[in-house]
Amino acid sequence: MNAPDKLKRTANGLDLERIRADFPILKLKVNGKPLVFLDNAASSQMPQPVIDRWVRYQTTQHSNIHRAVHHLSEVATAEYEVARKKLQAFINAKEDREVIFTTGTTDAINLVAHGYGRKFIGRDDEIVLTTLEHHSNIVPWQMVAEEKGAKIRVVPVNDRGELIHEEYLKLLGPRTKIVCVGHVSNALGTINPIREMIQAAHAKGIPVLVDGAQAVPHMKLDMQALDCDFYAFSGHKMFGPTGIGILYGKAAWLEKMNPFKGGGDMILSVTFEKTTYNAIPYKFEAGTPNIAGTIALAAALDYLSGIGMERIAAYEHELVAYAHEALATVPGLRFIGTAQEKAGVVSFVLEGVHPHDMGTVLDYEGIAIRTGHHCAQPVMERFGVPATARASLALYNTRAEVDALVQGLHKVREMFA
Ligand SMILES: Cc1ncc(COP(=O)(O)O)c(C=O)c1O
Repeated sequence: MNAPDKLKRTANGLDLERIRADFPILKLKVNGKPLVFLDNAASSQMPQPVIDRWVRYQTTQHSNIHRAVHHLSEVATAEYEVARKKLQAFINAKEDREVIFTTGTTDAINLVAHGYGRKFIGRDDEIVLTTLEHHSNIVPWQMVAEEKGAKIRVVPVNDRGELIHEEYLKLLGPRTKIVCVGHVSNALGTINPIREMIQAAHAKGIPVLVDGAQAVPHMKLDMQALDCDFYAFSGHKMFGPTGIGILYGKAAWLEKMNPFKGGGDMILSVTFEKTTYNAIPYKFEAGTPNIAGTIALAAALDYLSGIGMERIAAYEHELVAYAHEALATVPGLRFIGTAQEKAGVVSFVLEGVHPHDMGTVLDYEGIAIRTGHHCAQPVMERFGVPATARASLALYNTRAEVDALVQGLHKVREMFA
């Protein structure tokens, strides 16, 4: 049965057929089969309103921003700043100047590693990371640690892939200068208890950076309630385009930090003797930004908000639970990551089959999953596997698509197991 045949309204009233119709790429056939796109943690697809907004910007509003007095420059600047305000509202930041446009999560974390780390971290200081981090929340901190003579401390996980809270608390000491933790693990789907982690760090005066790349598309966020110091995410994982991302930072920190990149727009005045930096957020937005991407991302926020993040979270929660149930029926399948709280991701291995072979056979069936280490090699090492297969779900995925994956895995077994 084709995936869309089994579509119906979900219990909380989401009209999946209509939602799927918003995403033109979902009509594709791959290898003659309807596309079943289960690689959303890597990059999700764009709905028509986001594509339309991008085209409208390019065809009627494009100009460089913050620079000229002519009509198009004023329009583009205004739209860019409207996008900032929409992002502020979407994550409930206190002020719009706490929203910095970057090229993605990686860029946002590097901004903090360089802007905060190189200024506030010194010899023998400690940076607390977790076993679950994506490489982009490890490597920038290693670079700072190496340069400054600081140490990396790592929070371990239990066999379900959950951070061990008591071990985390033990790592928070007088030399800890920052805690950097993912909100949701891209390799396992674990939702980390970041609220408790932030409270524990703040009780000792330690700031916290949250890598939210895998959380933002799946749940409602509230920066003020969370009280984190930094929060990083990417547009292309939340129905927006590539090349645009966000760093949320508390104004008090951003004001104290050094700029990460130098160039146009981030200055107030330049002489060969001295440069005076612009106010935040512009201090961190050197050069011509991704104006079209920013404006299209704002359209993605409108799209998500139009459906409602609570409804999206409820539907996806149900779908992830269904995926676990359905996949558990495949003989020889072992889940990697069975945390109580999960979002978006199901990671597994199949006895006697290399994940890459699994991915290739599933591709013949039009099913896109990710296989490999998912840029989280320490997680693979912890679970003693070189790679996993990862199905990552988005709002537009259905139970029928999960069933198609299960069917595909039976074919894989017939061929290899
Ligand atoms: C948890 C996590 N952090 C960071 C990143 C990096 O995001 P980007 O490549 O958009 O910078 C990813 C991408 O997969 C991710 O899953």
